[in-house]
Amino acid sequence: MLQVCVIEADGIGHEVVPAAVRVLRVVAPDVEIQTAEAGWDTFKRLGTPLPDETLQMAKACGAVIFGAAASPSYPVDGYYVPIVRLRRELATYASLRPTRYLPVPTAREGVNLIVVRENTEDLYVQHEHTEDDGQTGISEKRITAVASERVARRAYELARRNGREKVTIVHKASVLVQSDGLFRRVALEIADHYPEIKTEEMLVDTAAYWLVKDPLRFDVILAPNMYGDILSDMAAAWGGGLGLAPSLNIGDGVAIAEPVHGCAPDIAGLGIANPTAMILSIAMLLRHHWLRPEVAFAIETAVRDVLYSGAYTRDIASVNAVSTEEFTNRVCDRVRELV
Ligand code: NAI
Ligand code: MG
Repeated sequence: MLQVCVIEADGIGHEVVPAAVRVLRVVAPDVEIQTAEAGWDTFKRLGTPLPDETLQMAKACGAVIFGAAASPSYPVDGYYVPIVRLRRELATYASLRPTRYLPVPTAREGVNLIVVRENTEDLYVQHEHTEDDGQTGISEKRITAVASERVARRAYELARRNGREKVTIVHKASVLVQSDGLFRRVALEIADHYPEIKTEEMLVDTAAYWLVKDPLRFDVILAPNMYGDILSDMAAAWGGGLGLAPSLNIGDGVAIAEPVHGCAPDIAGLGIANPTAMILSIAMLLRHHWLRPEVAFAIETAVRDVLYSGAYTRDIASVNAVSTEEFTNRVCDRVRELV
């Protein structure tokens, strides 16, 4: 019996997650859905952003659908970013973040790239402290050979299986010789095992430049955690916007589907959020984790068809925009025709 732990968390998580779960129920009615909580509201109520029961349920299911959690940009005693902890606890060591052209006016035709982001370390270990009476803030950037190797292998395997031609290894080893330098060296060692795939390396600032100037030059982008986070938001702009950008955190036999975007407090509760990113993240869960590529394809086709018909949420078009619910109805209707 397949199980999935569904965590809406905060803000538009309460809107896009139920919408996407409706689509999941159409294509995979056999999947048993468990719900759990996490995030800022949970923290305010229970004093923890990721209760033990949530973590246990996520581990027991082995598959998670996560909306987005609100995190303050100042220190709060006892609070930590729940999704970062969840990725680490579940050892989902790679985040797959594809950007593929979708038929919306905000997207760039021809773009088809995937960011493979290391997901367990780098600055995201959140080892921080202050010195000097709070006048100096210190963050530990941690890169290990083990984590670099497994994410690099995942990127090259993905490239090989999907017939992709090139992997761009992104780093700043020119300055961070020990940390990024290690990531670079290990990634290049893995690259040697995949001679049919072209490998290039690029400093992260140059990668940002080229991602703005010519996104079509990229195929697979392999990056440490922090750079992967930033570059995947940049790439999302070419895909038509954050409302359309899916991701899958994946480990060995475990996966977390989550949109690239956050909890969008500016539009939360209005019923206008774009559920596409969350829906396509579930399609990734079906393809990569549950190994059901046909239904994943059906979802992707349905989303594409609905967008092609001109049904846009407000982030894509300000006139005649459809609501989250209406958009989801149309995707469900179309997907029913396809499966
Ligand atoms: P955001 O991604 O939530 O929003 C950025 C902009 O994109 C906003 O204007 C928002 O309305 C729009 N947007 C995002 N998703 C959309 C959707 N599905 N449909 C329509 N419009 C959408 O990023 P922001 O504003 O920087 O962060 C807000 C909160 O989210 C913060 O507390 C942050 O910590 C949190 N966050 C959580 C993440 C997670 O849990 N995985 C990831 C990123 C941010
Ligand atoms: Mg991000």
